[in-house]
Amino acid sequence: MKLLIIIRKFQPHDFSWVIDIEKKVFDEHDPYFYMQFYETCSDGFIVAEINGFVVGYIVGFLMSEETGRIFSFAVHPAYRNRGAGSALLKEIINVFSKTGVSEIILEVRQGNTRAKKFYERHGFYMTGITENYYNDGENAVLMKFRVER
Ligand SMILES: CC(C)(COP(=O)(O)OP(=O)(O)OC[C@H]1O[C@@H](n2cnc3c(N)ncnc32)[C@H](O)[C@@H]1OP(=O)(O)O)[C@@H](O)C(=O)NCCC(=O)NCCS
Repeated sequence: MKLLIIIRKFQPHDFSWVIDIEKKVFDEHDPYFYMQFYETCSDGFIVAEINGFVVGYIVGFLMSEETGRIFSFAVHPAYRNRGAGSALLKEIINVFSKTGVSEIILEVRQGNTRAKKFYERHGFYMTGITENYYNDGENAVLMKFRVER
């Protein structure tokens, strides 16, 4: 049976789900950032739902008229490899494309080989490295997606 993944905009009642996923997946980040983000640029805050559960989220914002930036992106470990991550990433590319940006950028930990491959499969490519980007000193790989016009 094909799994139904619902992709929709974040709503305030999703907050605890998102924070729960964020805590499981990342060591850093401020939970209150997400509510602030919802209040200022809610179009770029998207969640994935399976069987009524929020299983993943993606957060992005416009850095300029030309550039969208993905800030945070995660799927609950128990719900990975079912297409939720791909659906979230496709949706935010779609949202950004409608605003007229020409590129979408993101940073990913240099050691996060799986995420780097995932992004490459979705059309992102590496553009550089920022040394000591994360609090623990790990480098960030900078990646970019060119929006087709
Ligand atoms: C990166 C991440 C968001 C991907 O989420 P996901 O839901 O697992 O993504 P998908 O299911 O769409 O794709 C993942 C894999 O499942 C496979 N897949 C997709 N749909 C599938 C399905 N219906 N059945 C089986 N496998 C499937 C994909 O081919 C892909 O394979 P690959 O990773 O070997 O290339 C997730 O791994 C994650 O949260 N990682 C930790 C946080 C992180 O690294 N965030 C990004 C950097 S900030």
